[in-house]
Amino acid sequence: MQVGQNNEGYRTKVSDKLVLVLNGPNLNLLGKREPGIYGSATLADIGAMLTELGESLGLAVEMRQSNKEGELVDWLHEAQERGAHAVLLNAGAYTHTSIALLDAIRAIATPVIEVHLSNPHAREEFRHKSWIAPAAKGTIAGFGPQSYSLALRAAAEL
Ligand code: DQA
Repeated sequence: MQVGQNNEGYRTKVSDKLVLVLNGPNLNLLGKREPGIYGSATLADIGAMLTELGESLGLAVEMRQSNKEGELVDWLHEAQERGAHAVLLNAGAYTHTSIALLDAIRAIATPVIEVHLSNPHAREEFRHKSWIAPAAKGTIAGFGPQSYSLALRAAAEL
């Protein structure tokens, strides 16, 4: 967090760079959902961890989750409209199906980092294909909740 001073001499917080963290379908069930694969941390736990890390990196983290593809598309557009510094996107199963998300990432200039808790390449074959990877700045997968913190550190360096 940065602190600045305005004309009247009051101390004000200079806005940190915005990073939107977008989560797709079924990730609202993290912690309960297939814990052998996705672990016991909830999305709220990950959000709290990212908010704290973001503060130390000068990044304002805004975390969202939706089970609806179109809502994720809208939020990608919003990231650009709001001049976000970067987006972290765990598109869940839409990773493997969604040309709409691919097009949305291509439609914005905001860099998007693809994130996965598990390593999709070590799982079923249908998870090996990511439609969004060709448009992403990069992909971090397989480190559980740490995939998100590694991605946030990468975003800070962009
Ligand atoms: C996931 C991997 C996807 O294959 C799966 O559909 C998910 C979660 C992950 O974070 O490991 O929902 O994106």
